[in-house]
Amino acid sequence: MLKLPGLIDPHVHLREPGATHKEDWDSGTAAALAGGFTMVLAMPNTKPPIFDAGTLDLALSAAQQKARCDYAQYLGAGPDNAEVAAALADKAASLKMYLDMTFGQLRLDDMSLWMPHFEKYPGQYPIVAHSESRSMAAAILFAAIHDRPVHIAHISLREEVLLIKTAKEKGIKVTCEVCPHHLFLTADSPLPQGEGLGVRVNGRSEVRPRLATQADVDALWENLDVIDCFATDHAPHTVEEKDSDNPPPGFPGLETALPLLLTAADRGRLTMNDLIAKMYTNPKKVFSLPDQPETWVEVDETVEYEIHASEQFTRCGWTPFEGWKVKGKVRKVVLRGKTAFEDGKILVERGYGQNIRK
Ligand code: DOR
Ligand code: ZN
Repeated sequence: MLKLPGLIDPHVHLREPGATHKEDWDSGTAAALAGGFTMVLAMPNTKPPIFDAGTLDLALSAAQQKARCDYAQYLGAGPDNAEVAAALADKAASLKMYLDMTFGQLRLDDMSLWMPHFEKYPGQYPIVAHSESRSMAAAILFAAIHDRPVHIAHISLREEVLLIKTAKEKGIKVTCEVCPHHLFLTADSPLPQGEGLGVRVNGRSEVRPRLATQADVDALWENLDVIDCFATDHAPHTVEEKDSDNPPPGFPGLETALPLLLTAADRGRLTMNDLIAKMYTNPKKVFSLPDQPETWVEVDETVEYEIHASEQFTRCGWTPFEGWKVKGKVRKVVLRGKTAFEDGKILVERGYGQNIRK
C-alpha cells in the first residue's frame, strides 16, 4: 500500500449554481474523493457566473451544504468587477480570467479590460488565465509589467511550454498546469463515440484547449520540470449533451487523473516525487492553501483494472478513457481524521467539506 498526501486539484467545474444535471457540489466532491483529491478549487463559469459578493455567496452556500471534500471557489474576471473581486480575494480561491473562447459567458476580449484586474487583485494569489497560444504570451507580458504572479491554466502546446520555460528563466512570476487529457490523448486518439452519429464530428472529443498533436504531447512530457501542477479541468457535460448537434467542450477527469498518472509512473514516465510535487506540494504553494491535518490517501499500486464510466461518481455518465487499462487504485481516503472514502464507498456526509478560505 502506497501512502500519498491528500491531493489538491486547482481546476474543477462543479456546475452549481445552474447546471446541477451535469454535476453539483455533492457529486463532484464525491468524485474528487474517489479520485484521491481532498481539496478542489472550483471555477466560476457557472449559471450565473461567480463574480461578486452575491454570486459568491450562492456558490458557497451550496458548497457548505453539499461538499464532501474541502474546497475554495474562484471569482471570474468580468468587464467591470475588478474592484469588487479584489475586495473579495480573501474569500476566494483566486481570480480566473477567460481570455479565449470556451464554455460560458465570462470572456474578456479587449486587453484594456485585463488591466484593472492585474492592477487590483492582491499579489499573494496568482491570477489564473485561460489563455491559449498568443493570448498566453500576452498574459505573461501582463504578469511581467505588473510584477505579479499569473498561473496559466491547462497548457497543451509545445510553443506554450517552451515560452513558459523561458519566462521562468527570466524571473517572470508565471506558473502553469497541465491536464491528464493533454498528456495522454492527441487529436487523433480514438475516443468513445455516441450511438448513430455516422461520420459527423465526434462531440465527445470537444474540449478547450483542443487535443493537440503528438509533437505537442511529447514536448509536455519532455518539459515536465516546467510544469508546476497537474489539474484535471474536470468539466462534466452529460452524454446526451456531448452527443448532440451542439456539443459543449469538456471532459470529466477527477476519477481518472491519479490512476492514469500512477500508471505512467509505473512505466517510468515520471517519478512518484514528480506526482506528489504536482498534485500536492506545488498547488498548495502556488495558491497559498492550508494544511489538512490527519489527511492522506492509500493506494494499492499493484491492482490493475479498466476504467469504466459506470463505476464513477460524476453525474456526467462518460469518460474519454473508457476501457483504458490502468495500474493503481485508490483504496482509502482519510480527510481531517475521518475515513471519507474506502473500497468504492463515500463515507462522509454532505457538508463535511470545509471552505479553506473561510
Ligand atoms: O473544455 C472546456 N470545458 N474548457 C473550458 O475552458 C471550460 C470547460 C467547461 O466549463 O465546460
Ligand atoms: Zn476549466
